[in-house]
Amino acid sequence: MSEHSDDIAIAIEGVTKQYGPTTALDGVSLRIRRGRSCALLGRNGAGKSTLIAALTGLVRADSGTISVRGDADGEIEGPGGHSIACVYQKSTLVSELTVAENIWLGRYPRNRLGLVDWHRMRADSLAYLEEWGIGHTVDLPVEALEPIEAKIVEVCRALSRGPRILLLDEPTAGLDEAGCRELFEKIRLARSRGVTIIYVSHYLEEVFQVCDEAVILRDGRVVLEADTADLTVETIVDAMVGEVDGRPGHAARDLPEEVPESRPVVLDIDGAVIGEVSASTRVRRGEILGFTGLDGAGHVRIAEAIVGAQALDSGRISVGGTRVPRGVDGAIRAGIGFVPEDRHRSGFVPDLSVEENSTLSALRLLRNRAGLIDERRRRTKYEELAGEWEIKASSPEQRTAELSGGNQQKVVMARALATDPDILVLINPTAGVDVHARSSIYTTIQELALAGRTVVIASSDGVDFTIAHRVIVMFRGRPHAELAAGFSEKQLAAAVQGE
Ligand SMILES: Nc1ncnc2c1ncn2[C@@H]1O[C@H](COP(=O)(O)OP(=O)(O)OP(=O)(O)O)[C@@H](O)[C@H]1O
Ligand SMILES: [Mg+2]
Repeated sequence: MSEHSDDIAIAIEGVTKQYGPTTALDGVSLRIRRGRSCALLGRNGAGKSTLIAALTGLVRADSGTISVRGDADGEIEGPGGHSIACVYQKSTLVSELTVAENIWLGRYPRNRLGLVDWHRMRADSLAYLEEWGIGHTVDLPVEALEPIEAKIVEVCRALSRGPRILLLDEPTAGLDEAGCRELFEKIRLARSRGVTIIYVSHYLEEVFQVCDEAVILRDGRVVLEADTADLTVETIVDAMVGEVDGRPGHAARDLPEEVPESRPVVLDIDGAVIGEVSASTRVRRGEILGFTGLDGAGHVRIAEAIVGAQALDSGRISVGGTRVPRGVDGAIRAGIGFVPEDRHRSGFVPDLSVEENSTLSALRLLRNRAGLIDERRRRTKYEELAGEWEIKASSPEQRTAELSGGNQQKVVMARALATDPDILVLINPTAGVDVHARSSIYTTIQELALAGRTVVIASSDGVDFTIAHRVIVMFRGRPHAELAAGFSEKQLAAAVQGE
């Protein structure tokens, strides 16, 4: 390849990947120069993760060529060469192994006797973890970690390989501001050392902070390539969406109308204590309540307690006057819709079809008189949900595991809403969804509240809380501030930091 000049780190030529009826990549050609940091953008299902997986060799392209060269004097490698490290969108950690073992997986260090050097493995891992403030996790099995900690472990694993090329597929999903800052710092450091970076994100503002250039995919094709200096959020969104669809509603939102005192309290959190975390509040019908804080501040725990996914040590949470039964099933029966923090652990059943997962919570409503599921009714319900949420699947029967990350999240949202619940508890509902879907999630939440539903949103991950009537900011397990609608971004940011 004569044109593979020294300063090209990644050369992709006419790469195509077909999954049954779906064309995930459609003749993608791309060159990325050494030491550049390139954003890879596009709507949910555009082909970003597939392209990343083709670069690491996890997925084999149907046609086209990929060559990778870490250093100017390095050999030209195919996909998956040793100079590449990747943080995938979906966790690739082994849950039974410890954090240190995961970081060193597949390349355990050996001492002079040829035995695994556990001491070095642990010390080295610890150094990486401590930079992120999660040193205490080093000996824990990954299954005991919070989802955010697990994400950080994956980032540490990738960085610890000292890669020349670093691929990051939505690395900030679930990270709070401090986590993002840390990551951006690491990216800048890597860049200054000449590492080439491909960065996938739906947070377009981030792209301007960490990327030199951007490549936008639509339906598996490259539709725009430019330096970020020559782009704006608008031009990126236009390219992602294509002219036909128009832009998502990003206009300033109206302040939510106040919820009258006369409205009944639907959700009563009364001195609830879960370990170090405690909170009390009463939420009225038609109210949107936000819970936020730094990662681990307790807002997610409280949200989980509402749906019975966290046991209370003391206190009481009641819905419509009755105590919420233990376990998530009980919560669903009590009329609560739930979007969990980690869709892969508890959001959907990977082997079930998209149709089955989206309607799972609504089976009760889809049975005929004999108690059997009315397949026609189910299909109608699915089609309604899929249309509303723009779920991109090749058919209703497609396995949910095969959907793109953002489309899986839409399935989880659709399922939470399929029963038209009185109360919705959403944890990081916008994780991984594209700007368009994010907008429609906010609109849906507002419409539900207007229709008399109560919504609790817990997140430290970039959720736009201006739609909430009230936001409770947790700090180190306690409610630290309560902000009424109309608060400024600055006020919220300060409260989150405990100021
Ligand atoms: N293993 C698979 N089997 C079948 N279809 C697949 C598989 N993996 C991906 N696809 C399909 O290929 C298309 C591209 O998916 P991909 O995961 O690359 O999207 P993405 O751009 O990463 O989206 P997101 O922003 O939601 O993560 C989607 O339509 C997806 O359903
Ligand atoms: Mg993806």
